[in-house]
Amino acid sequence: MIGRNNHLVSINDVEIEKLLDFAYSIEFNLYEKLSCEGKILANLFYEPSTRTSSSFASAMYRLGGDVISINDVNYSSVSKGENLQDTIRTMSNYCDIIVLRSAMAGNCATAARVSEVPIINAGDGNGEHPTQTLLDLYTIWKKFDRIKDLRVTFVGDIENGRTVHSLAKALEGNCELNYCETYEVDELPESDVYYLTRVQRERGSTGTYELTERMVRWMPEDCIVLHPFPRNEEIPVWFDDDPRAKYFEQMKNGLYIRMALLHKYI
Ligand code: NCD
Repeated sequence: MIGRNNHLVSINDVEIEKLLDFAYSIEFNLYEKLSCEGKILANLFYEPSTRTSSSFASAMYRLGGDVISINDVNYSSVSKGENLQDTIRTMSNYCDIIVLRSAMAGNCATAARVSEVPIINAGDGNGEHPTQTLLDLYTIWKKFDRIKDLRVTFVGDIENGRTVHSLAKALEGNCELNYCETYEVDELPESDVYYLTRVQRERGSTGTYELTERMVRWMPEDCIVLHPFPRNEEIPVWFDDDPRAKYFEQMKNGLYIRMALLHKYI
């Protein structure tokens, strides 16, 4: 059992190192065939998504299971005024696990209270995004062989970035954490990991920032630059070919993490 209970609402609900090990064994085929054959995942998304919804769906198909995709609740009974609890009660009759993205912090905990099947938090408002954190940690772990004793700088939207909230929670006490809000981004402290985020305009955040050539010159040779994506202007595309840019590898890692999660939680 990797989860501490049946639901994954907060990053605190997971035994992180065990999950990373399991994802590694999936990525490098160390196990015999894993299967979720005969199982059904419901993707229930109240906010837009590309990577999270698609990688969960892909993970489920690769495990031999099936997917009900409600990737835009506006085409469901939510548009007729159905509340979250009724939608969750309904969907839990039809599937074995629900991946839920919602617009309000706390909604996943509410869903977990009424659901008959495990709820996986795929981002709740400006609260948490624990499955993103697991793939962030997996990327860090594969690079440095550890997820402690590292210097990690968060750059961008600290207040409303849910990916920052979960990752900081996971690293707190084990790593040296620095925070650079958008308006302070000018010089970055020396770090092993730079975790950049988009300005969450849909949550009322304002401001803008951009990685400059000068900043990049100051970054250590052996650091990595992560970003949960989607990006806006904060990372110019010319940086993509830099060996320190790990965000495409990071999103690929999401597949193995989500295969591991589906297999463990169903
Ligand atoms: C993030 C999210 O939804 O919080 N995206 C993701 O899941 N990879 C980041 C963001 O939207 O800025």
